Amino acid sequence: YFPTSQFSYFTSFPGMNAAIRAVVRETLRQGHRCYLIREGYTGLITGNIEQASWGHVANVTHLGGSMIGTSRCDEFRITEGRKKAAEKMFEKRIFHLIVIGGDGSLMGAQKLKEEWGRFGEELFAEGKITEEVANEGRELHLAGIVGSIDNDCIESDKSIGSDTALHRICEAIDGLVMTAQSHQRVFVVEVMGRHCGYLALTAAIAVEADYVFYPEIPPDDNWPEQLCNQLESVRKYGKRQNVIILGEGVTNSKGIKIGGKQIKEEIETRLQLEVRIATLGHLQRGGAPTFLDRLLGLRMGYEAVQEVLKTTEDPGSQIVGQKTVAKVMCLRGHNIERNELSRVIRQSESANDETIQRNSD
Ligand code: F6P
Repeated sequence: YFPTSQFSYFTSFPGMNAAIRAVVRETLRQGHRCYLIREGYTGLITGNIEQASWGHVANVTHLGGSMIGTSRCDEFRITEGRKKAAEKMFEKRIFHLIVIGGDGSLMGAQKLKEEWGRFGEELFAEGKITEEVANEGRELHLAGIVGSIDNDCIESDKSIGSDTALHRICEAIDGLVMTAQSHQRVFVVEVMGRHCGYLALTAAIAVEADYVFYPEIPPDDNWPEQLCNQLESVRKYGKRQNVIILGEGVTNSKGIKIGGKQIKEEIETRLQLEVRIATLGHLQRGGAPTFLDRLLGLRMGYEAVQEVLKTTEDPGSQIVGQKTVAKVMCLRGHNIERNELSRVIRQSESANDETIQRNSD
């Protein structure tokens, strides 16, 4: 889920470097120039763009975060900002762009693509680019790669980073359970995911949690009673600790966010159990990527290069009206599929609207 207000929002995620590596190496292998844009869209606007060499992406696959930095970029949300980015791209004659990120970042890329033709004409009319460059860059060949720990892209079974985040969550909770067990405590563990409950729900299964709150199904008004009944029943057969997972973005029936503190108070008052809250925060997004995220990053990076080069070599196969259609790399089963970016964005937005609606009903 990426609200429109988050559009052009970039976060890093484990596995991003693997994707960058594959993009760079495959582009160079095919005999093209490749540039790294630093600090997300900010770098595109300010021209923080560096030509990549083979060696640039050596020893990066195992590293978390993003080797080229990332940022939120408010300027890219407005047309003038995107036009500045286009100008920098025309200057360097960069007409193929691969964007790695969540829906917010991909939404920004799609916007740039839609306005690209107009930007080219305006930059030429303003004398900022020559006719030759304007013609060469008539088309922006764009591909997206789905990456976010939230795993909230509707068309992809997995987004890069989510497997590592789950691994981190499980590891942390396994640790908490040991102390909880000794003290007979309850732990409320707050996990990320924005308005998508994937991390909360799947982690709950993997750690044998006793209760999970996730945004897609907002809890009933009598959730405190249901929760406490559940805790009581498992304690009756000898369980010495409880784990409750609270997904980010969970609200009550009035649309008010449910917090760990509220859950703690309800349990302590009703059951006289000791409760502690653990907010895993950005630990979930850090650290070395798992094997799966490395592989997914590498595979999607490789496919994205094939996609942008294909639209140049065989534009007819991709054209709708007079424009090539941007694709986004998605995982479906074991295969990487190339889906239409604008459609994936639309679907994510409507899924997101549904969650918000359900939470405020
Ligand atoms: O989208 C990834 C994510 O980690 C969300 O799960 C979380 O809500 C958000 O980013 C946190 O953003 P920030 O790093 O700006 O605090």
